[in-house]
Amino acid sequence: MTLVGRDFLREADFTPDEMGSLLDLAAQLKADRKSGREEPRLRGRQLALIFEKTSTRTRVSFEVAMRDQGGHVTVLDPASSQVGHKESVADTARVLSRMFDAIEFRGSSHADIEELARFADVPVYNGLTDQWHPTQMLADFLTMREHAADPSGPLRYAYLGDARNNVGNSLLVMGALMGSDVRIVAPPDLWPAHDVRALADLLAAQTGARITLTDDLREGVPGAEFVHTDVWVSMGEPAETWAERVALLRPYRVDSAVMAMTGLPGAKFMHCLPAYHDQGSAVGRAVARDFGLPDGVEVSDSVFESPASVVFDQAENRMHTIKAVLVATLA
Ligand code: CP
Ligand code: NVA
Repeated sequence: MTLVGRDFLREADFTPDEMGSLLDLAAQLKADRKSGREEPRLRGRQLALIFEKTSTRTRVSFEVAMRDQGGHVTVLDPASSQVGHKESVADTARVLSRMFDAIEFRGSSHADIEELARFADVPVYNGLTDQWHPTQMLADFLTMREHAADPSGPLRYAYLGDARNNVGNSLLVMGALMGSDVRIVAPPDLWPAHDVRALADLLAAQTGARITLTDDLREGVPGAEFVHTDVWVSMGEPAETWAERVALLRPYRVDSAVMAMTGLPGAKFMHCLPAYHDQGSAVGRAVARDFGLPDGVEVSDSVFESPASVVFDQAENRMHTIKAVLVATLA
């Protein structure tokens, strides 16, 4: 199997075997780096990074992964380049293809990254769009594999919160693709859109994945080995969204009672980060003050800081899994 030259835009573009091979490669690259045996396989290769939206983990993961492998990166942000306001996606793709071996894009519209990939002659990687966050899924699955009681069996996880955002969509479809037991636990107004659910159902019929969409925590949480959540208001959504979102999602906040409801003493908490779990950020402080959530918004600070929390393993795995995508598509 080879993935050389492939784009990485959304989970459903890959077979379960292809995704499995990226996870195996990531685990190997992680072990090699930790034992000082990593072989640079991308010497002299050039990667362009376009960030229309802000990022910490995704950006540093692409930068560190590329440098570890002997390659180079150039970061383009809309404020200091022509991307988006003075030049079309199609023209940007054709210019960058003349100088770079691959292009990463983080932005709002998934249609934009599809157009970028159509016009680019080099692999294009999705660093997050409003619809999908596929590199996050590789990190999440590697992390779940590392912590699961039975890593070879189907992963059993619940996602609580805004399930029609990029992370909710991706956790549903990636689980369907990988034959997992996926529980989306959210108010029906915040369930993934019909086309996303239809795609998940289609994949689940092929892989044997078990998919549950429910607004009832007692239906979705028991037996889940991993409890995921994400911010209740995503990048690009107006600040006024907070009031309506908090009203809908307050019952779905991950606290110690939710973790206990899994019935599994070893259940783990996961979050793609950044998280509003304390008052250490401006938004965390404002939401805590305005909505009376002093102990964390989507997750309580005590769960976030507990031994059940594997969020920093998950963050580290962004780098190893993104490196796997780079090596598999470019080396
Ligand atoms: N999880 C994630 O994508 O983090 P960043 O927004 O910091 O890249
Ligand atoms: N759903 C979040 C994910 C951040 C990594 C957002 O889009 O802001």
